[in-house]
Amino acid sequence: MATATTTDRHMIEGTTNPSALAVAHANFALIKYWGKRDVALNLPDVGSISITLEALWTKTRVTLDTTLADDAFELDGRSDADAARRVSGTLAQMRKMAGVETRARIVSCNNFPTGAGLASSASGFAALVTALDCALSLGLSPARLSELARMGSGSAARSIYGGFAEMQRGGRVDGSDSVAHALHERDFWALEVVIAVSDRRRKAVGSTEGMLRTARTSPFYSAWVENQALDLALARRAIAQRDFEALADVSEASALAMHGLAMSARPGLLYFNATTMECLHRVRALRARGIAVFFTVDAGPQVKAVCLPAHADEVADALADVAGVGEVLRSGLGPGAHCLRSCPELDSEPIA
Ligand code: PMV
Repeated sequence: MATATTTDRHMIEGTTNPSALAVAHANFALIKYWGKRDVALNLPDVGSISITLEALWTKTRVTLDTTLADDAFELDGRSDADAARRVSGTLAQMRKMAGVETRARIVSCNNFPTGAGLASSASGFAALVTALDCALSLGLSPARLSELARMGSGSAARSIYGGFAEMQRGGRVDGSDSVAHALHERDFWALEVVIAVSDRRRKAVGSTEGMLRTARTSPFYSAWVENQALDLALARRAIAQRDFEALADVSEASALAMHGLAMSARPGLLYFNATTMECLHRVRALRARGIAVFFTVDAGPQVKAVCLPAHADEVADALADVAGVGEVLRSGLGPGAHCLRSCPELDSEPIA
């Protein structure tokens, strides 16, 4: 007879469902991930380097519930069938690892716009695997959590860690070496990020579709993949030496190369709007005046300006002044994903 797992015992003996809460913070890549070497396992074709942000987070509560016939997923107070489909694979896999079959009720909230190029899938999947790890008492290592998060969203692998993280491309067919690791803790180098939000709507073409189209149709895709090792090495060194100019140079080059590559797909992918372009010029103008700031942009129009804290007020004022910028968010570097004891935001959320 199979031995009861910790969770089963808890379910049998306990009067309440085992429930776990976790938080994970969004991360932005300085050296961009764009392209997959395996779609089914969601393996990246290139490595990437990111910073994790304090101010942007996803909080997730997982409740294992024997009365549920199926998993239920709610995001920001609404049942979300699309998101439920995306998380079902992660749930099935982690349940299998724990040897339990109990269905789960997942309630999640973001404190920033979802699917608008602000890395909500990164914090979302990192929070999910961290909460499931606690609920199922798996006790997985950060590398294993990173691998599980990656299967949901490539960038999520990096949100397991705080501060500066690097995602390895890996080479194994099973993807076990396509995981992220910590480069430096957040207090290694106090950077600040100013985010100019010009459109809160969901992007028209998601990153998976965008990456697949780019790899299939861009004549420059192989050059992008070949160049990545050099940019990763330059960024690693710039961060280790806290060399702002060098990091600005390689980060802007990576962001522009990613967007140039995406634009060269057929049909070309345009994540920028007019405000995005204006913000990039504004950041370049600030840097020309000696302000330590550089930009990066993901699969959406929002511009993230990375700067030294002494310059953050000036950068925020300059970006708030650009026509079309509706909101300016600010953040320092944040911690890795972790479990929480309580969460006022979710306790007040209705459960479907
Ligand atoms: O993790 P995904 O599938 O949402 O892809 C992220 C892609 C970019 O945000 C554009 C780049 C990156 O490295 O985060």
